[in-house]
Amino acid sequence: MSPATSPAPGSVLVTQPIHRSALTKLIDAGYAVTELASPVPLSAEKITERLGSAQALVCHLTDRVDEHVLSHPGLRVVATVSAGMDHIDLDAAARHGVRVVNTPDVLTEATADLAFALLLAVARRITESDALVRGGGFHGWRLMDELMGVDLHGSTLGVVGFGRIGQAVAHRARRFGMSVLYHARRPRPELPEHLGARHVPLPELLASSDFVSLHAPLTEATHHLIDAEALALMRPNAYLINTSRGALVDEAALAQALTAGTIAGAGLDVFENEPRVHPGLLARTERVVLTAHAGSATARTRERMSHLAVDGLLRALDEPSAQPTQL
Ligand code: DGY
Repeated sequence: MSPATSPAPGSVLVTQPIHRSALTKLIDAGYAVTELASPVPLSAEKITERLGSAQALVCHLTDRVDEHVLSHPGLRVVATVSAGMDHIDLDAAARHGVRVVNTPDVLTEATADLAFALLLAVARRITESDALVRGGGFHGWRLMDELMGVDLHGSTLGVVGFGRIGQAVAHRARRFGMSVLYHARRPRPELPEHLGARHVPLPELLASSDFVSLHAPLTEATHHLIDAEALALMRPNAYLINTSRGALVDEAALAQALTAGTIAGAGLDVFENEPRVHPGLLARTERVVLTAHAGSATARTRERMSHLAVDGLLRALDEPSAQPTQL
């Protein structure tokens, strides 16, 4: 690997460590690789400073890849080791002729598993029960258990955003005997029968679901999609699950809704201002489970994400340069 400063032409900057075997693939392809190991995500300015003459950047969802980075002379490709691309200014990338590649598909099942794990955890109060046992509060089986949960079987799941992950969650829900509603920009009648999911407008989904699981990308249109008004439409016995992006939900409004009992609980893997979490959510342990943006965090999935990003980057570098759309 080259020293951290002034990479030579034919070089790639990697903002945070990726899987070793994927890094080796880059080096074997003849690129000089600079891998930064900053313990905290770097600002756009810092990334730009370190780009030097790199043609490609491997970044993560915690890096902000803005106009400043994308206008860097010689930069041709940005590969993000994530499915989500909301941290990248895609319009600026097109303007500057920078190709952007990401890592969809490989994290579908892992993320759907975590969404379902959160759903089960809040429904059956797993973390509260764990805390009770560890705290010495378990005094034996009682019919009138104080940590009574709710049944998944026979309940309704509302899936917001019906891409790969939303469908994978729907598939799991059907196996658990749940009915599935979904809301997406366009209905997907072509989807396999076994998903058995019915497309409904968002207000109907919110009002009719026992569990609402979010699987839409973060865009201007989905920012605070679940705000105070949307939360008010949900049932008082309903749970909100979010494994997509934190900013789909107005966290202050969610904390307020939980306090007011407008909804029953929440399972959240993503937060509006990561790594910070709204204090009103941190304070709630009853029927609220929080995880650390871990949807794709299995060893195999993260390895596959590293490889997919590098493969996409190598392919994009092999292609003729993209033309800037306008400058
Ligand atoms: C992604 O890839 O966008 C996920 O949020 C990572 O877990």
